[in-house]
Amino acid sequence: MENLKLNVNVAGVHFKNPLIAASGTFGFGLEYKDYIDLNQLGGISVTGLTLEPRKGNPPPRIVETPSGILNSVGLQNPGVEYFIESVLPELKQYNTIIIANINGNSLDEYCHMASRLQQADIHMLELNLSCPNVKQGGVSFGTDPKMVYSITKAVKKHSYQPLVVKLTPNVTDITEIALAAQQGGADAISLVNTFLGMAIDVKTRRPVLGNITGGLSGPAIKPIALRMVWQVSKVVDIPIIGMGGIMTGQEVVEFLLAGATAVSVGTANLVSPNSMIEILNELKNYMVNNKIFDIHELIGGLIV
Ligand SMILES: Cc1cc2nc3c(=O)[nH]c(=O)nc-3n(C[C@H](O)[C@H](O)[C@H](O)COP(=O)(O)O)c2cc1C
Repeated sequence: MENLKLNVNVAGVHFKNPLIAASGTFGFGLEYKDYIDLNQLGGISVTGLTLEPRKGNPPPRIVETPSGILNSVGLQNPGVEYFIESVLPELKQYNTIIIANINGNSLDEYCHMASRLQQADIHMLELNLSCPNVKQGGVSFGTDPKMVYSITKAVKKHSYQPLVVKLTPNVTDITEIALAAQQGGADAISLVNTFLGMAIDVKTRRPVLGNITGGLSGPAIKPIALRMVWQVSKVVDIPIIGMGGIMTGQEVVEFLLAGATAVSVGTANLVSPNSMIEILNELKNYMVNNKIFDIHELIGGLIV
């Protein structure tokens, strides 16, 4: 087990293993420090940050669906300044890659946050162009290739750290959006964010979520996410961080075979705080049992 090579390089950033906690499902990471050893994680993409603090959407914000959840949290967070001043110093004590996930209402806001984070001690910046739960910005930026290109290009000028652009799956052709991000200067792409959905209470005839609609995540979306990662990997030259419904080590292998260099685990963290450690152990067992000693033997290894 000790001889396994699990480390991957995403846009020049060295991850000790390919498992990253997905933004919005792992807080700032510190919330999990009493339950798991954060040093074991490849990286943490912190909860979506905005320029100003946000209270998020009205409750209820989460509803279970068959094999998944719908959420409409709406980017509740204390704001980028608070993160830099009050969270990052403690988070940096852990030996794991820190990715700041940013969300703007406008191009200016994205650039402003990137400039501020440029001076902060983070490893990567993740541009979330894909949140389905906010009225301004979010998913509406991420569905238009021209907009994706312009925002990526503008933010890139303000970001010293490698830039990851996170794509929404709520589009007809994901490859068009991925190419726009690459042309705009993205150093890596992460996909997918959640799928827009809704739930209705038939007793009250009202939507279950306070925001009416929400984003679907978890095992229900995995086959679609996997298909999108595979399609994108065939057209871009930059590394991909794949995600959507990963609950087991074998599912990590599926995403790597489809062309992802690293993966994020989201909803599984809400099932058990120990999920990522279990998934990592399952990945190692898979490699040992299949005599794979270097994780690179799996990346892009799909046989068609
Ligand atoms: C409760 C919740 C909050 C989320 N918040 C964010 C966020 O702030 N920023 C972001 O880029 N993605 C956010 N996401 C999307 C996840 O990072 C991930 O892309 C998606 O859930 C698919 O992965 P999963 O099926 O493993 O959860 C959130 C997802 C959930 C379930």
